[in-house]
Amino acid sequence: MRHLIDIRELSVEEIDELIATACDIIENPARYSEKCRGKKLATLFFEPSTRTRLSFEAAMYELGGNVIGFSEAQSSSAAKGESVADTARTISCYADIIAMRHPKEGAPYVASLASSIPVINAGDGGHNHPTQTLTDLLTIYREKGHLNDLTIGFCGDLKFGRTVHSLINAMSRYSGIKIVLISPEELKLPSYVKKDVLEKCGIPYVQTTDLEAAMPDLDILYMTRVQRERFFNEEDYLRLKDSYILDPKKLTNAKPDLRIMHPLPRVNEISTAVDSDPRACYFRQVLNGKYIRMALILKLLEEAAK
Ligand code: CP
Repeated sequence: MRHLIDIRELSVEEIDELIATACDIIENPARYSEKCRGKKLATLFFEPSTRTRLSFEAAMYELGGNVIGFSEAQSSSAAKGESVADTARTISCYADIIAMRHPKEGAPYVASLASSIPVINAGDGGHNHPTQTLTDLLTIYREKGHLNDLTIGFCGDLKFGRTVHSLINAMSRYSGIKIVLISPEELKLPSYVKKDVLEKCGIPYVQTTDLEAAMPDLDILYMTRVQRERFFNEEDYLRLKDSYILDPKKLTNAKPDLRIMHPLPRVNEISTAVDSDPRACYFRQVLNGKYIRMALILKLLEEAAK
């Protein structure tokens, strides 16, 4: 049974195929509107979500399928102490595919071991968020026309940011990629990502605390939220939460074809005054999330049927 727990489980060729399918869905939605007739997606969300859960649900409905699930642990039998493995085994009796978000790293992997249907990791703690990465890759492809030869700046919480870890993993497999890591000292990218991904793949990278100094070199600026829910200490969160606030003035020296991305939700890190800048593509990114999830559901269900 094929699952998607970590973006590295997909080859570059498979990612390119998913992007091609998503682009075809965008061009020809009617061709896909019955593809999942009679199939059910279970969305098992043990942690809050707006985009991921609802884009999965919209994706399944637009493929002609149905959706069951829960949006918080408290409304499931997890509140009575049921394990993730037993939950996955149970849902395998009711649905054809699972999308699971969980605050604990590795929980979707544990679910995949017990499940007899495909499990998609919809975000596990500070670890991975592979469908956000697919969303980001589709967005970069649609905005820039290619995934090679790009300088990408990641800004904000690079320590706990699972979307950052997953996207760095994915982009490290393309050629001509340079990475600029912009964060406060306390929220630097973990050394295991630097060593096991960037250094292993020979990706040039620099670390800085200065967003404005880095700006002129960037083709993509990937902003992130400082995540209150990952901090052990409220004082640290309050001290670091407004480390970077992108506003029109900070974009003065940016390239005219820069693209500003953000996985959302945002809090303060991008001023709403930036939203009308044509280089801001975070709401186009949200829409891409539905199309790439449609492509992924189709792929995993097709493979499960073999
Ligand atoms: N980007 C993202 O994962 O958003 P949600 O938390 O709203 O799903």
